Amino acid sequence: MKISIIGTGYVGLVTGTCFSDTGVNVTCVDIDEKKIENLKNGIIPIYEPGLDRMVLANVEKERLQFTTSLKESLEQAEAVFIAVGTPPGEDGSADLSHVLAVAREIGKHITQHIVVVTKSTVPIGTAKKVKAAVQDELEKRGVEIDFDVASNPEFLKEGNAVEDFLKPDRIVVGIESEKAEKIMQKLYKPFTLNGHPILFMDIPSAEMTKYAANAMLATKISFMNDIANLCEIVGADVSNVRRGIGSDTRIGNKFIYAGAGYGGSCFPKDVKAIIKTAQQYNYRLRLLESVEDVNNDQKMVIVSKILKHFGNVKGKTFGMWGLSFKPQTDDMREAPSVVIANALIKEGAKVKAYDPVAAEEAHKILGDTIEYGKDQYDALIDTDALILITEWPEFRIPNYKVMEKLMNEKVIFDGRNIYDPVELKENGFTYYGIGR
Ligand code: UDX
Repeated sequence: MKISIIGTGYVGLVTGTCFSDTGVNVTCVDIDEKKIENLKNGIIPIYEPGLDRMVLANVEKERLQFTTSLKESLEQAEAVFIAVGTPPGEDGSADLSHVLAVAREIGKHITQHIVVVTKSTVPIGTAKKVKAAVQDELEKRGVEIDFDVASNPEFLKEGNAVEDFLKPDRIVVGIESEKAEKIMQKLYKPFTLNGHPILFMDIPSAEMTKYAANAMLATKISFMNDIANLCEIVGADVSNVRRGIGSDTRIGNKFIYAGAGYGGSCFPKDVKAIIKTAQQYNYRLRLLESVEDVNNDQKMVIVSKILKHFGNVKGKTFGMWGLSFKPQTDDMREAPSVVIANALIKEGAKVKAYDPVAAEEAHKILGDTIEYGKDQYDALIDTDALILITEWPEFRIPNYKVMEKLMNEKVIFDGRNIYDPVELKENGFTYYGIGR
């Protein structure tokens, strides 16, 4: 079986690599020549655990290719996956220009039946537009070639993307023909063997599923952050409340951790986009509008705590542990650390940060407005407080003795509630968490 994947970002690269690992012949396409050249030499543009080894192994076995030629990649392919970016436009709606440009290119070059699969997160109704774009190009060529469209949203978590692809909670595929269903079934069979379900449905429902899933998860987080803020006011501890409600199987114990707000490439963008889609149909998603509001405010909660503690932070220096929007990734998109660092700098403070992998990405956004420590303790030298933003495992059991020697003041602002307030107090630290 042969397939083509257009776009070698997180989604395209993980998808292509994981399919090739099952023996499928995969060609990954990107317009970025440098990126393709690097990939051919085994240089991976992103940090994703397990991915580099898998790319190399499959390139070696000659079942994973990289090219800039979309046309070549389509030869004998049974399916082509569109996995290019859909950045938010100025009004928050997803910008489909890349997706539709790829659809047109496909229409220009196909010579046999193919399933055109949208993998990128796209608004409801996009598969229809993809179909029209391909059809339009075929008509311009004056040829009649049978093709299908399908929608196959991804549910990959950054930092765990390979694992999520190999062992999916579910695979969602929107189809409108049996032929497309058969091809998608064949392609995904290796991943469904251990009881991981593949759910076929109509295309609009598949497109909606992606947004509804992310919006629901974002809602859980904002809900907990809102409750956390109230916990503080009434003297409750949100960690206990989380355990209390999480043991109710109807609620579940995942994604109910209060913190510095959600970030990343998906939740902020997708929540905005679904609100926008609703507006286009004259419907207001009031709940999600609040989810977004709460999240924007939540990124500043820690700054408020800092200002309250110090009164004035002019001339103070803060050690910051963690920059990426979550652990196990170097992704800085919508990272709360940026909002927090900028707010502190604006108040006249200095920030010294350390992140196990995201410093380089962070530098692209924050530049030299902050200092970058060599390691987590280097980032604490002469600081007036530690701010924990990203819960990387290595930050979980800090060496209090070392910290005491390095810091001017023993204060910790724990943006992810990973520390035990009692233990910190015993070690002489002033502790601030979220909602406790
Ligand atoms: C998410 C979805 O999980 C994935 O299915 C989808 O395909 C893309 O978007 P990702 O953005 O990689 O994946 O990150 P995720 O692990 O879901 O975390 C998102 C954000 O929520 C992070 O900023 C994280 O810190 C925050 N979060 C998560 C919380 O604040 N509390 C929680 O309980 C869980």
